[in-house]
Amino acid sequence: MKDVFIFAIETSCDETSASIIKNGNVEIATVILSQIDIHKEYGGVVPEIASRNHTKAITLVFEECLKKANMTFDDIDFIAVTYGPGLNGALLVGIEAAKALSLATKKPLIKVNHMAGHIYANKFVGTFKFPLLALVVSGGHTELIYMDKEYSFKKIGSTLDDSIGEAYDKVARVIGISYPGGPLMDKLAKKGRHTYNLPAPKDDNSYDFSFSGIKSAVINLVHNEKQKGNGINKENLATSFQETVVGILVKKTKKAIKEYNVKQLLVAGGVSANSALRDALEKLCDELNVELLKPDIKYCTDNAAMIGAAAYYAYLNGQMADFSLDPNPGLDLD
Ligand code: KG4
Ligand code: ZN
Repeated sequence: MKDVFIFAIETSCDETSASIIKNGNVEIATVILSQIDIHKEYGGVVPEIASRNHTKAITLVFEECLKKANMTFDDIDFIAVTYGPGLNGALLVGIEAAKALSLATKKPLIKVNHMAGHIYANKFVGTFKFPLLALVVSGGHTELIYMDKEYSFKKIGSTLDDSIGEAYDKVARVIGISYPGGPLMDKLAKKGRHTYNLPAPKDDNSYDFSFSGIKSAVINLVHNEKQKGNGINKENLATSFQETVVGILVKKTKKAIKEYNVKQLLVAGGVSANSALRDALEKLCDELNVELLKPDIKYCTDNAAMIGAAAYYAYLNGQMADFSLDPNPGLDLD
């Protein structure tokens, strides 16, 4: 069969990224331009600023990606783009650039769900074995997804309020760590002990999650201690928070693996870079004799390589788009 080369574009949040992927699992070249330093001073991503910076950077990112791959658009078969979920204006920049490219090069357009992209980042580390379960943990989502074939997603549980990434970032902010707080919280947690008793979030028999309660508990704890003139042990608070949230993720994932009798567990999304979560899932999969796929750390957070991998299967699934494609900020996986 002829090789399929996909030029993939990702602009759903604060990374401007392009990638060339062969046959859905071979990375030819990827460029990721992060805007984190720009948004840091605001304590989070400012949508209007994200769109403006995507617009400024996108052509340069495309050019750099082709240069890195030593290819031209003549070598490309398809253009793929993230169309949701994400920030409306940010998505729009990628989508309009993709349409313009498709028009100019006459290469067909594939639309890709950003969360499918996170799951398909695992194509670079192993083969999918169905049925499988994906634990999707990102800045916007916390979901358990069941898949019995390629590019087919059934949501069996999700967060009822904040995502796990949001909880990490807000707790980090209240203890004085700048955005995005997740990676630094992870580092701090390695140095501490579980000394703060925090409420276990939605510790029940459902597959749904809730992280707003533990987030508020941490905020209240920090304020109360401050009022009493006491300090907070940041390391111990980070460990206590991390162990509590990882505990609930692992507990519900374990139940789902057993109930759905899956062959594989995939972890995906920005928070899948978390060392405690990776270790705990490793242990869980060993215990249950289920294979675990986890993305390379560099492809846990947003990037176009994962979009190129997902796009190959989206294409096989008929997910083509025309020039009427619009952003879908609230796009669901199923
Ligand atoms: O998937 P992602 O790049 O963006 C979305 O699609 O939302 O996820 C970003 C989130 C942020 O909340 C960030 O703090 C979190 O992933 N994150 C982490 C770690 N690395 C990134 N959270 C905990 N531990 C980490 N090591
Ligand atoms: Zn993401």
